[in-house]
Amino acid sequence: MASYDVIIIGAGPGGYVCAIRCAQLGLKTAVVEGRETLGGTCLNVGCIPSKALLHASHMLHEAEHNFAAMGLKGKAPSVDWKQMLAYKDDVIGQNTKGIEFLFKKNKIDWLKGWGSIPGAGKVKVGDDIHEAKNIVIATGSDSSSLPGVEVDEKIVVTSTGALELGKIPKSMVVIGAGVIGLEMGSVYARLGTEVTVVEYLDAITPGMDGEVQKTFQRILKKQGLKFIMSAAVQSVETLKTKAKVHYKLRKDDSEHQLDADTVLVATGRKPYTDGLGLDTLGITLSKRGQIETDKHWQTNVKGIYAIGDAIDGPMLAHKAEDEGMAVAEVLAGKHGHVNYGVIPGVIYTHPEVANVGETEESLKEQGRAYKVGKFSFMGNGRAKAVFAGDGFVKILADRETDRILGAHIIGPAAGDLIHEICVAMEFGASAQDLALTCHAHPTYSEAVREAALACGDGAIHA
Ligand code: NAI
Repeated sequence: MASYDVIIIGAGPGGYVCAIRCAQLGLKTAVVEGRETLGGTCLNVGCIPSKALLHASHMLHEAEHNFAAMGLKGKAPSVDWKQMLAYKDDVIGQNTKGIEFLFKKNKIDWLKGWGSIPGAGKVKVGDDIHEAKNIVIATGSDSSSLPGVEVDEKIVVTSTGALELGKIPKSMVVIGAGVIGLEMGSVYARLGTEVTVVEYLDAITPGMDGEVQKTFQRILKKQGLKFIMSAAVQSVETLKTKAKVHYKLRKDDSEHQLDADTVLVATGRKPYTDGLGLDTLGITLSKRGQIETDKHWQTNVKGIYAIGDAIDGPMLAHKAEDEGMAVAEVLAGKHGHVNYGVIPGVIYTHPEVANVGETEESLKEQGRAYKVGKFSFMGNGRAKAVFAGDGFVKILADRETDRILGAHIIGPAAGDLIHEICVAMEFGASAQDLALTCHAHPTYSEAVREAALACGDGAIHA
């Protein structure tokens, strides 16, 4: 048994970042983690491994579709699936070991095992009870189940199983056209799988800018993904080596079925708080199972805090990281702050999709006066040189003040481009501020400047 200033439960991006910041601020810190490796869902079975497979499959797509046009002749490479998975595992290993190194460097204790909270100021791991002035719950989330669908992680899989399938399936049904479904669906479509996405709503990626949704779906269709929209999956029947997906079309309640080698269930995630003992502690949860906190991330029990996917807000690693840093500042007697209005979202398909702030739909709902500056990557020389002219940058600015309210990008490196707009928004910049900033030529970022120019007197290359 040991005594700490802070014990953090969970070593995902929220927890490990919180721990490092706590240690940097002079707090004696420990992290409880039951997995064999640090990094949580993101590093082990989420963000990082999926990016490795997205990269590898994108390379194959480039070789198959664009090499010949550039004068790179020869047969496209064949896929060694085992090696591709080994490459992905190696990437995971490098990252999780990196966190272990950072823990040692910052003198953070890793309490190995699954933690529970027998009372305020106490964390139980195995048979040991450790004492802590403060506890931070950073236990993340888990795939949410769908009634009538039993996941076996072999034929019917969540994102976890989709990252380690025994072989590349001939056919795959993806349930849910959200981030996970489209990223993993893209991976397998590029590897030759016939991918059909079944989505409950009439548009993909719920909550995103409507124009982006339409363009994105058109591009994905061109890449071979099939979509069945406005369809509610009712159940999945697992046969010996296949599965049968039963769904109803919402317009007429008609029943249909689809056979597939693999079914990916990507219908959202739910907070993971099992086994912590929140009931006994009397910690308040929302209807959706999220831990409720005040504006300093403290639960209704003094000294117990919660961050990341376990609480309200977008289930994003970087949102959890920001909360982790902020709560560390609070515990060290400083002023932790997260600007929830400027949290970017990125989908790592090809092209990438990125957004920050308001959408046209949300502005209309609020009855706010806005203007739109839009620029197509077709007018960007660099994008055209690398077969990436499909897509656009769209900036939304206040009609009166010109202040940037949101941005939506679909196109090359969108996930990186969005950040200049995030910084601009953090500084309360106007579209004109961006437009007056010199952008190097030829870069993709010129498209951002052009969209900002389009909020004023007009883009140059439109
Ligand atoms: P999601 O919430 O993004 O999308 C789920 C989709 O499933 C929705 O479009 C919903 O309408 C649909 N759906 C629900 N029930 C259905 C049914 N019975 N039949 C047909 N469709 C149905 O959830 P997803 O993709 O599982 O992602 C979970 C979380 O993980 C999200 O919060 C996401 O932000 C996060 N994530 C983020 C990534 C990134 O930032 N690049 C990558 C992967 C996950």
